[in-house]
Amino acid sequence: MKRPLLALALSLALHFHARSADSLALTPPMGWNTYNTFAGNFNEKLIRDMADLLVTSGMRDAGYVYVIIDDNWTGARDSLGFLTVDAGRFPSGLKALSEYIHSRGLKLGLYSDAGYKTCGGYTASRGHEFQDAMVFARLGADYLKYDWCNTEGIDARGAYATMRDALLATGRPMVFSMCEWGNNKPWLWGRGTGQLWRTTGDITSCWSCIDDHGGKYNSYGVMQILDMQEGLRAYAGPGHWNDPDMLEAGNGSLTATESRAHFTLWCMLAAPLIAGNDLRTMSKGTLEILTNNEVIAIDQDSLGIQGFRHTGPDSLETWYKPLKGGDWAVCFFNRGSKPLHIGHDWKKDVTHDDVAGLELNCARHTYSLRDVWKKTRIGTTADGLAATIAPHDVLMLRLIQ
Ligand code: GLA
Repeated sequence: MKRPLLALALSLALHFHARSADSLALTPPMGWNTYNTFAGNFNEKLIRDMADLLVTSGMRDAGYVYVIIDDNWTGARDSLGFLTVDAGRFPSGLKALSEYIHSRGLKLGLYSDAGYKTCGGYTASRGHEFQDAMVFARLGADYLKYDWCNTEGIDARGAYATMRDALLATGRPMVFSMCEWGNNKPWLWGRGTGQLWRTTGDITSCWSCIDDHGGKYNSYGVMQILDMQEGLRAYAGPGHWNDPDMLEAGNGSLTATESRAHFTLWCMLAAPLIAGNDLRTMSKGTLEILTNNEVIAIDQDSLGIQGFRHTGPDSLETWYKPLKGGDWAVCFFNRGSKPLHIGHDWKKDVTHDDVAGLELNCARHTYSLRDVWKKTRIGTTADGLAATIAPHDVLMLRLIQ
């Protein structure tokens, strides 16, 4: 083949490959993961309980379908090099648990790492990628989170492409969640490799803090993670998502208001919604946050546009997200520690989304306003908006065409 023809064929192949990879997660994945609450303290009973609770609480029907078993599930390799399952945690075997999860209308997520060992020191996939992918497929996995501990000297792009190819070779569709903490700017090359990529180090359950784990690594509060998303929105879209890490709603020192704001902001970011709270002790308030269908609809909007913010005076941030059919989500967020009285003159609100090439023009068009947390109509953009927003709280509106 002549050079230009070869280049064209190659770029078409890459284009179609990226598009078919995208189809595995056309909206941000939703589920529940063991790590934020349980780290390594889980077994098959706990995961069955969580699967049951996802169903009975209504979370599954709200969209949380992936049950993701994070680090600490693998055993040693057998004599042929196949990965085994930690038998202490899974006396009935992981296949039985997988069948149970599927029988409840849920999907199974598993975890591995590109090094020889996971972050928790358990067996990981380096040098066994194709064999491990085969095991994940046999176990009925629908999702793989692939971590980045113990990978000194390895090329990230190559390591993630190897596991992507290994997953593809099994013939079983598995969402591929790339967890290399943004170290190698995966937003620049992740599309066509995985469906979501972590943009930061780990989240922790505080509003604003940095935990340095005795100088070993940092984990970050909700506000720190939020600010690290700046500049990344152009790289996200249907099937290829920036992942600002899992939800801490209902965890640690977050108040109910902060949990609600955290969830709202993740929805404005079109983030994957992976809950990480203990569903056995979840409060009614946390459940209401996690299952508000109008808020989730903003995250799951089929345009898949990640929102953006305008920073105003007095700790006010105004977030915008274009939605399908000409609607917009607009969220007023009080980052400060005092109640904030806001007055918003909609008729002066002409906001451009330079990445998506869309414009919210309230000067030319009147939208009706819906408070999606309260699920009530609150007038139109023909009138000014006056509201008081409590510290760390949000007012999230859907502007309806
Ligand atoms: C890393 C990841 C976390 C979690 C832990 C498990 O820190 O970033 O999300 O998977 O490893 O050990």
